[in-house]
Amino acid sequence: MLKNLTTYLPEGRLTNDELAMGFGNWTAEKIFAKTGIRERRIAGQHECASDMAFRAGADLLEGKDRQCFDFIIFCSQTPDYLLPTTACILQRRLGLGTGCGAIDLPVGCSGYIYGLALAHALLLAGTATNLILLTADTYSKLIAEGDKSTRTLFGDAATATWLTKDSSRRLSSFVLGSDGGGADDLIVKSGGARHGAENGKPPTLFMNGPEIFNFTVRIVPGLVRDVLNKARLQPDEIDYYVFHQANAFLLEHLRVKLNIPREKFPMHLEECGNTVSSTIPLTLADLDRSGRLQPGMKIVLIGFGVGLSWGGCLLKW
Ligand SMILES: CC(C)(COP(=O)(O)OP(=O)(O)OC[C@H]1O[C@@H](n2cnc3c(N)ncnc32)[C@H](O)[C@@H]1OP(=O)(O)O)[C@@H](O)C(=O)NCCC(=O)NCCS
Repeated sequence: MLKNLTTYLPEGRLTNDELAMGFGNWTAEKIFAKTGIRERRIAGQHECASDMAFRAGADLLEGKDRQCFDFIIFCSQTPDYLLPTTACILQRRLGLGTGCGAIDLPVGCSGYIYGLALAHALLLAGTATNLILLTADTYSKLIAEGDKSTRTLFGDAATATWLTKDSSRRLSSFVLGSDGGGADDLIVKSGGARHGAENGKPPTLFMNGPEIFNFTVRIVPGLVRDVLNKARLQPDEIDYYVFHQANAFLLEHLRVKLNIPREKFPMHLEECGNTVSSTIPLTLADLDRSGRLQPGMKIVLIGFGVGLSWGGCLLKW
C-alpha cells in the first residue's frame, strides 16, 4: 500500500535564540526543555504550502511514469485559494494526466491518517491504482508575531507519499474520530465564510494550549488501544509508535501514561518543530533514512489535534 515517501523542508530557520530575544523570561534552553524544539523551518514570504508540496511531489515522481498516477490528495489547512481546489493546481504543476482525481483535505494534525484512510479506501475500491498523498502547511504565516505559545511550536514542511495496491507495506486497522465541541481551542476565525476578512488584518491562529493538552490526554490512550484491538495485537508486539509530533512536553506525558519504551517512541521535532499534517511522514522518513526500519516491522501511527480530530492505524513496513 505505501510505496515510497519524500519530504521537503523550506530554507528559512527560526531558532530558539531568535525567539528568546523577543520573549523575555523564556530563554532558548527553556524553550527547548519544554517543547523539544531547537529550530523551526519557515517558508519564504512568497512560498505557499502548494509550492512546498510541489517540491516534495516532484522529488517523489522523479524518473517515474507520471501518467500512471490517477489520484492526488492535497492535505493542508493553508490552501492557495478558497477555490479552486489546490490539488487540481498541483495535478497540472506535477505533470499528472487529466484522468487524475484531485481533492483537498483540509485536516490538520490528524490529516496524514485521514489521508491514508481515504487512500486505502480508494485503492481497495479500485477507484484509484496509484495515488499521491501530499501534506503541506504554512502555519508560520498565521501566527501573530508576539504569540509565544504558538511561535515556539509550529514549523512549515511538506511530504509526498506514493500509495498503490501492490506494495508490501500494508495499512490496516484505521480508527478515526472527531469532536467539534473543541473547535474553538485551535482556530483561525477570519478568512472563511462566517467572518470574512477582519478589517484588512491577516488571519491569525488562536490556540488554547492547556485544553489541547487535556484533549490529547483524554483521547489518545483509548485511540491507541482501539487500533491495537482492531489489529489484534498486544502493545509489546509493536516496533514503533509514531505519534503526531506536537511538542516534547505533551509527547513525553503520553509516552509515560501509555508505558511505551523510549526506544519505540521516536521524536523528530528538534530541527523542524510541529509541522502539523507532515509530522508523521517526516518521522517515518527519518526512521527509514537512519536504517531503523526493517521489512515486517509493525508501526502504530497516531494523529490528533485541530478540529478536534484524531486518527490511528497500523502500518506494516
Ligand atoms: C503549550 C504547553 C506546552 C504549555 O505547557 P503548560 O505546562 O500547560 O504551560 P503553562 O502555561 O502551565 O506553563 C508552565 C511552565 O512552562 C513554561 N512554558 C510554557 N510553554 C512554554 C514554551 N513553549 N517554551 C518555554 N517555556 C514554556 C511556562 O512559562 C511555565 O514556566 P514557569 O513554571 O517557569 O512559570 C501545553 O499546554 C501543551 O502541550 N499543549 C498542547 C499544545 C499543542 O501541542 N498544540 C499543537 C496542536 S496538536
